[in-house]
Amino acid sequence: MACFFRRRIAAKLGKTLQQSDDVFMPALSAVPVFNKQETADLRLSISVLRTNGVLPVSGEIQAQTEHLANQLKRDSVVEDISAGSAVINFKIDRKLLAKKILEPFGTGHHGKIELNSELFNSLKTGTTLVEYSSPNIAKKFHAGHLRSTIIGNFIANLKESLGNKVIRMNYLGDWGMQFGLLGAGFSQFGSQEQLKENPLQHLFEVYVKVNKEAECNEDTMLAARDFFRKLEQHDSQAMSLWQQFRDITVCEYRHVYERLGVHFDVYSGESFHQEGVQEVVSQLQNKGLLKTTKMGTSVVDLSAEDQSNICTILRSDGTSLYITRDIAAAIDRREKYHFDEMIYVTDKSQTHHFQQLFQILQAMGHSWADRCHHVPFGLVRGMKTRSGEVVFLEDILNEARARMLHNMKQSKMTKEMDNAEDTAQKVGISALIVQDFKGPLQGDYKFAWDKVLQAQGDTGVFLQYTHARLCSLIRKNDDIDAATFDPSFLTEQSGISILQHLLRYDEVLYQSAQDLQPKHLLNFLLKLCHLTASAHRELPVKGSPQQVAQARMRLFSGTCSVLASGMKILGIIPVDKM
Ligand code: ARG
Repeated sequence: MACFFRRRIAAKLGKTLQQSDDVFMPALSAVPVFNKQETADLRLSISVLRTNGVLPVSGEIQAQTEHLANQLKRDSVVEDISAGSAVINFKIDRKLLAKKILEPFGTGHHGKIELNSELFNSLKTGTTLVEYSSPNIAKKFHAGHLRSTIIGNFIANLKESLGNKVIRMNYLGDWGMQFGLLGAGFSQFGSQEQLKENPLQHLFEVYVKVNKEAECNEDTMLAARDFFRKLEQHDSQAMSLWQQFRDITVCEYRHVYERLGVHFDVYSGESFHQEGVQEVVSQLQNKGLLKTTKMGTSVVDLSAEDQSNICTILRSDGTSLYITRDIAAAIDRREKYHFDEMIYVTDKSQTHHFQQLFQILQAMGHSWADRCHHVPFGLVRGMKTRSGEVVFLEDILNEARARMLHNMKQSKMTKEMDNAEDTAQKVGISALIVQDFKGPLQGDYKFAWDKVLQAQGDTGVFLQYTHARLCSLIRKNDDIDAATFDPSFLTEQSGISILQHLLRYDEVLYQSAQDLQPKHLLNFLLKLCHLTASAHRELPVKGSPQQVAQARMRLFSGTCSVLASGMKILGIIPVDKM
């Protein structure tokens, strides 16, 4: 939306300084809005122009700024030009600002908005594989898996909305000794009925019991080893039990992810890469990268001059490890999906693991390894439900829904509605997401339900509330046709502030695409909600003259569309009523 104005100003600069317009584009940005204070709309950074070699670095920067500002002439688009500190401020003609920004929202407020901006041209598009969530069968689904799920979903949504083909992959922990234990334990503690009734719960229970048993009973451990060996040899009985555990788990997860608004194109897993592992080992051997240690393990030496860095690839009994399967998996994905870029989302404790993975891939001659990225995130402390520690994703979702439903019943603002449970669930989940996305992802935070679900302040409830309020305003005024509107009726500062803020939408998405951090987009949306609250108070629709009402409705429906669009990218399903 801002690109029309950026382009116009760049053209003006290009003409004045006899340079190509393009060189000015990176130095132009929308001015952040301050409540109630009048600001310029766009600004040109002189330091960026100096850094990029467009302006000479010699000479005092402020004098240079003022000199350039004086050279520039106003016109029908740019109403005012002034020098700030090392920036030149541009004020756009008010009517044109409203007209251009609200242009895309002519028909139907819930139409998908087209995200196109010249800014996005420099971003690479292609196939992006995003791997996220990746829980382990029969083990706990902890807060880290929830974070991976919502962050990965955000990254996938963002990439998709910027024109990439996205493959969403879940890489299950579906192989390893835990299945030996589970297989051995199932004959002792398992029940097919309970498995059908409540699969995740039952598998987890069996797993806990057999682990305890194995601690004091040598035979259980032997049975577990025996079962896993059978699995590795693809014994048909062992495999069919394993397959049943896996199928049931995937089926359950699918349902829970659906509640969360998350889906996957592929449910892959560690089990898929047993043959690939053999291939990896022989390739490493052929390339002379594999060394055998005194202890009998096989390792790749990644040591740099100052630091030793040894990565174990095979245990002394010849079995593979987590990283071995990851090497095989990466190569397999590249062959299958021809991704241009691959993104792994896990907590930061795995940073070293992924560094090693990328280094080994590189050493094996896979140059695409430099297009593999790890997005790390920090720890969440204290995520508990009323019944105790979180074990399953479902627990968290149920708790969020129950608490939200309770709050909604208490609140005077809540409207009567038929699907209160569903709304409570959607709002509860947005609250979790917003809490998680506010800061830098690498940061740790302490989880507190009360804080998360507050209706005031910068929460998911506030985002949803603002969206629902805008929808209600649109419903109540459906007799007003905002398909045509006269922008000269939008002169109040609270309306202008929204328009100015909307100028930043493409910049914010661009920024998020650069560092894959959701905070830029989230904070943009929260600010939009605050501005909307003021505008809502100050710009009544009902009772205003028709043309004023029309123009305001156009403003509010544009705001609603951008809000909904941004929320969806974050992975939040906007509610129309609450
Ligand atoms: N299942 C692993 C865990 O729970 C996460 C898998 C991450 N992805 C990967 N390709 N290693 O810690």
